[in-house]
Amino acid sequence: MAVAGAPRLLASGLLAVLPLWACDVGDTSEPGLQHLELLQQQLRLLAGARHPEALPLTWVHFPKAGSSFLNVLVHTPGFCPGVPLTVSIDEDSFGCRFATNFFNACPDLCDPASVRCQASPHECIGSRYPELEGHMVGLFRQPEQRILSAYHDEARTWMVLGTDCTHQNSTKPPAPIFARYFAGTVAYQLVGEGLLNYGGGHHWLPGLLDIPERTVEMAEEAVRRLQGFAFVGITEEWDLSICLFRKIFGGPCHALDFSNTRSSFPGKQAEDFYDTAPLEGFQDEIDRIVYQEALRIFRQDLLQHNVSMDSCHDCFAQAGRH
Ligand SMILES: *[C@@H]1O[C@H](CO)[C@@H](O)[C@H](O)[C@H]1NC(C)=O
Ligand SMILES: *[C@@H]1O[C@H](CO)[C@@H](O)[C@H](O)[C@H]1NC(C)=O
Repeated sequence: MAVAGAPRLLASGLLAVLPLWACDVGDTSEPGLQHLELLQQQLRLLAGARHPEALPLTWVHFPKAGSSFLNVLVHTPGFCPGVPLTVSIDEDSFGCRFATNFFNACPDLCDPASVRCQASPHECIGSRYPELEGHMVGLFRQPEQRILSAYHDEARTWMVLGTDCTHQNSTKPPAPIFARYFAGTVAYQLVGEGLLNYGGGHHWLPGLLDIPERTVEMAEEAVRRLQGFAFVGITEEWDLSICLFRKIFGGPCHALDFSNTRSSFPGKQAEDFYDTAPLEGFQDEIDRIVYQEALRIFRQDLLQHNVSMDSCHDCFAQAGRH
C-alpha cells in the first residue's frame, strides 16, 4: 500500500506552532487582588491545559470508536509539526489503512516527546499498562453501536486479521453471531497482550476468530485501567469530546477535527444510531461494564473542566460548527 500523503507532508516542512492557550491568558494588566486571583487561576488553567505529565500520549484506538480522532491528536500544537493543520489523516491522504500508514510515517512527522508512534493503530495494552498508565487517550462507543458499525464496515471483515481493505472476503456470519465474536473486545484490548509479532508490529489486536474468551473479570480490570487514561472521550458525544480534549491539551478547534473521516456509508455521522434489531436482542455484557465507567469518567471530566455545549460555543464557532 503506497503512502501517497507522506512525501507531500514531509515536503511541506515545519508548521508555525500556535501559542498554547493564548486566548486564556488574556489581559493580565489589571492591578490589585483581583489581578492576582486571576493570574493564579490562569496559571492553574495553563498547567491543566498542558498536562506535561501525560505526555507522550498513547492513543488507544478501539475499532469503530472513531479513527477521525487521529486528526485531533496530530493537530494539537507541537505534537506533529510535520502535519499541516490543513491536512486530514484519512483515506485520501494515507490510503485505506490510513492509521497504519500514518503510524509508519509517524517518526518523521511527530514529536516523540508528545505522542507515541505506536506499531499499529489497534494496539492491546496487556502487560505494558504500568508504562502507559497516565498517558493513554481514547474514545469509547456504546457497545452494540460499535458492533453494528463493524458489521456494516464493508472494507473490513474484522474476522480475520489482514483481510481489511481487500474487499475480497466480506463473508460475514449473521449479525447476532458476529456480535458474539466482536463483544468484549474493548475489555480485551485494555487487558490482553494481543499478537506480539504480526506485520512487524507488536501487541496487535488479533482477528476476531483468534481473540481469547472475554470475561467479567477482564472487564473489571479494564475499568481499573480506565483510571490510567489522561483523556476519555465518547464517540456519541463527538463534539463535546473534542472540545474537552482541547480544554485539557490545548490547540485550536479545527473543522477537520469534527468531521468523520471514515463513515460507514455516505452522510453517516457518529451521532446517528444503528437500529439494533438485527442483533436479535444480543447485548455486549462485558464491554457494557467498561463503557459505563467511560461514561462516568467523561461526565465527571466535563464538570471538572466546565465543558458544556454552552462553554464550547467558541470552540464550535472556531470550527465552523454553527
Ligand atoms: C473468506 O472467509 C471464509 C469464512 O470466514 C473463510 O472460510 C475463507 O477461507 C475466506 N477466504 C479467503 C480468500 O480469505
Ligand atoms: C463555565 O462556563 C460558563 C459558560 O458556559 C461560564 O459562564 C462560567 O463562568 C464557567 N465557569 C467557570 C468556573 O469557569
